[in-house]
Amino acid sequence: MSSSPLDQLPEQTATLLTTVAALASLEELVEQEPLITGKRSILSALQKSLGQLAPEDRKAAGATLQEARRSVEEALAAKREVLETQARHLALEADRLDLGDVVVSHVRVPYTVGHPGIVAATQRQLEDVFVGMGFRVADGPEVESDWYNFEALNIPPAHPSRGMWDTFYVELGEPETVVLRTHTSPTQIHLMEEAVATNSLPIHSVMPGRCFRRDTPDARHLAAFHQIEGLVVDRGITFADLAGVIETFTRAYFGPDIASRLRPAYFPFTEPSAEFEITCTICRGEGCRTCSQTGWIELGGCGMLDPAVLEAVGIDGDEWSGFAFGFGIDRCAQMRHQIADMRALTENDVRFLRQFS
Ligand code: FA5
Repeated sequence: MSSSPLDQLPEQTATLLTTVAALASLEELVEQEPLITGKRSILSALQKSLGQLAPEDRKAAGATLQEARRSVEEALAAKREVLETQARHLALEADRLDLGDVVVSHVRVPYTVGHPGIVAATQRQLEDVFVGMGFRVADGPEVESDWYNFEALNIPPAHPSRGMWDTFYVELGEPETVVLRTHTSPTQIHLMEEAVATNSLPIHSVMPGRCFRRDTPDARHLAAFHQIEGLVVDRGITFADLAGVIETFTRAYFGPDIASRLRPAYFPFTEPSAEFEITCTICRGEGCRTCSQTGWIELGGCGMLDPAVLEAVGIDGDEWSGFAFGFGIDRCAQMRHQIADMRALTENDVRFLRQFS
């Protein structure tokens, strides 16, 4: 029987497959590939030797050799995939070591979401307290005519009490004087007028909003600040109702440890009038820069509706009576969060703002 160059093919193929299985790295594979399936391999040498075979044997021998080559090439491709995956993991591992615990491809850029400012949050909390006491929430314009901001509130032109409010004027004189409202009290007039027009007395409302005064900013003052006005018009309302509402509010918003007091005061649109004060929360009543060493902080004014105001809007003072109050929202926030200087509320320093998120 004549010998064929392919006589040793099964053993040679087995050797090649063992070599492939033993490859331990991509570098080794690249280095060995020419000897396994490339030009310098036994498979290529056998391919060339097929020419020596008799033509009738060549076809079958060629097919056998192709089959052997396919099995070696498939094994080599599978090995390449395994070694590449291994190499990727090793590279990733190395990156992880370089950067401590952070895997580069998984780093996320942190982003932050904003939150309501302290004054806006305080306004909502105050509204909640009063809604819990049966009040409704209303609002009014920030730009007012002189009549709403002053005259209807019993403060005629040239009246000395106008000096209580340092006013920003938008329009002077004809057809009418227009101002940035100096307080939320003009909303009392709007609400009472509307109630008269729609025959919908009584009124139990709070009206929060922005006010403006030519005040020099300091530890307790801003030029643009916020008040929450309260208005009750009903039958048989007395000062005891007003004092009860203020006491209930103080406990609900500041807690039972904060003392409050009403001091006799003067407002042209209420009679009698009072100033509402609480123990300064910065010094706990000891006296500090924020409370001008008094130990007390004024949060707002209040009083029983003056009959002249009821008359100006056409409400019968014999049938109806009521009270009003106006608290500083920024002041409430300042005392609740023990902020020594109110100007911090407008400086937008994120280190300050983040404390209230
Ligand atoms: C008034 O504005 C009256 N309208 C309050 C009132 C309403 C009295 C209803 C009677 C009946 P006063 O000027 O005192 O009052 O201001 C009330 C509160 O607003 C102050 O106690 C303070 O808490 C706040 N406030 C006043 N001016 C400023 C300011 N420049 N910056 C920050 N808060 C202020």
